[in-house]
Amino acid sequence: MTADTLRKLYLEFFKSKGHAIISGASLIPENDPTVLFTTAGMHPLVPYLMGEKHPAGTRLVNVQKCVRTGDIDAVGDASHLTFFEMLGNWSLGDYFKKEAIEWSYEFLTEKLGFSPDKIYVTVFEGEDDIPADEESVEVWKSLGIPESRIFRLPKEDNWWGPAGQTGPCGPDTEMFIEMDKPKCGADCRPGCHCGKYVEIWNDVFMQYNKREDGSYELLKQHNVDTGMGLERTICMMNGLETVYDTELFVPIVEKIKELSAGRPSDEDAAVRSERIIADHIRTAVFILGDPRAEVRPGNLGANYVLRRLIRSSVRHAKALEIKEGYSVKLAEIIIEEYKAAYPELEEKRDFILSELSQEEERFAKTLASGQREFDKTVGALLKHGQNIISGRLAFKLYDTYGFPLEFTEDLAAEVGLEVDREGYNAAFKKHQELSKKGEGVFKGGLADHSDKTTALHSATHLLHKALKNVLGDHINQRGSNITADRLRFDFSHPAKMTPEEIQQVEDTVNKVIEADLPVTVDVMTMEEAQEAGAIALFSGKYDEKLKVYTIGDFSKEACGGPHVERTGGMGRFRILKEESSSAGVRRIRAVLES
Ligand code: ALA
Repeated sequence: MTADTLRKLYLEFFKSKGHAIISGASLIPENDPTVLFTTAGMHPLVPYLMGEKHPAGTRLVNVQKCVRTGDIDAVGDASHLTFFEMLGNWSLGDYFKKEAIEWSYEFLTEKLGFSPDKIYVTVFEGEDDIPADEESVEVWKSLGIPESRIFRLPKEDNWWGPAGQTGPCGPDTEMFIEMDKPKCGADCRPGCHCGKYVEIWNDVFMQYNKREDGSYELLKQHNVDTGMGLERTICMMNGLETVYDTELFVPIVEKIKELSAGRPSDEDAAVRSERIIADHIRTAVFILGDPRAEVRPGNLGANYVLRRLIRSSVRHAKALEIKEGYSVKLAEIIIEEYKAAYPELEEKRDFILSELSQEEERFAKTLASGQREFDKTVGALLKHGQNIISGRLAFKLYDTYGFPLEFTEDLAAEVGLEVDREGYNAAFKKHQELSKKGEGVFKGGLADHSDKTTALHSATHLLHKALKNVLGDHINQRGSNITADRLRFDFSHPAKMTPEEIQQVEDTVNKVIEADLPVTVDVMTMEEAQEAGAIALFSGKYDEKLKVYTIGDFSKEACGGPHVERTGGMGRFRILKEESSSAGVRRIRAVLES
């Protein structure tokens, strides 16, 4: 079965069960400062899981592009990927456990053809105040899954979410397919990582909201959120050993082999390098090819992840003696392969290719300066008769110049030196703790429906329209990010704004706030939204329904909400900063003061 067939089969199956097919969202989450990337199909749907009305109804299905970087160091084995496509279906306060499980079972056995005997499941065994999920056990039994293939597991295994720090989450039931190989030991069971039982699908029963203080409350409605990884499913359906053997990766890996002029003697290391290059460049292509955000390699947040992916691939390319310029060649294959399903890649082809090749070049220079730093220090060490490279230096080479520890160790070995591994690990750990702290400063996100974030969200619409009025119609949103304290808005504009322009924009927004205009919402198609003159940066299907928020006679913009009911009590709008975000893109930070 091909990826394309699986995508269609999934969408059509759930359509036949009353689900509306909706477009996938951007890979870069909008208005959510708590995460860098969309990590699951449910993520862009958080407001609807919390009770907002979705324009397409209460049963949804789609294919969502996802990036997960948590396991980035595990990439290179048989199954870890940083980018993947998630097939998902949702009930927003509609059906619950019975239907969700029955349809999952029907799809696995009748559409994908898995033998019922090979299906194993896990369910939540209960913890603290949250009861065991015996209801799911009963549904599985009614479908013929015997007790011996049902495993009750703790929260660690059978609880999913929230996607950020707060928001919808709940117990889940996971489905596994038994592979034709022996158990790794007496304790081997679904959830064990030996490969005997491969997880294929997860049905999450999202009826809880995790609050900032870590406690749980019941959501207004019970929801179902499911997720099935496309790459892994294709791999299993075709009886393949690894995701890299699927049609999605074969052309990429073949090109890597073709470009490689040499191969390290360690075959496992060579294979791992090929996989890392294939995975990382594919992810980089999708990040660069996002239709709504413009993410370039950089030093912070999503920009840094992108840089790290590309640079790590360069190092592995070196190990395989692949010449510079390879990333563009691979990107061309990836765009070709995916452009039917993701036309944005073709549209952003030039941007993708030029950013990749520039980053490759920049990194080559950094590596050269890292080598100079290394030579200098080694020179000094040898002069003083020392033979250990400190952990601090090894970490600096990693952090500033992108040298992995093993790379530094190899260089050191060539001149008869050793690296203080422990010192390196300590420096690494300290750095990780610091960056975790850095990540923790953000509050808010899509699960945050507080009055403050809601008002800032409405202020973003007012700002967008005011910018168009003051600067011209060429203004388009290039990114939006809201915390409980401020809004941040990126937009296309070729020049720095003058103080007068900033003042004018501020005044325009404040006038609308003072006029206490009503905010109303209508559901319409993209076509209708455009006819109505709404700002709609929409990359989905033409007949798909969207919500359009109208603020008095001032602004009309498609968006998921929520928003204030009237502009009155929003507070006073003030622009704190206007600066460059990247070439041709400006960034505004603004607040609402009470
Ligand atoms: N959101 C759930 C997952 O990612 C379905 O596994």
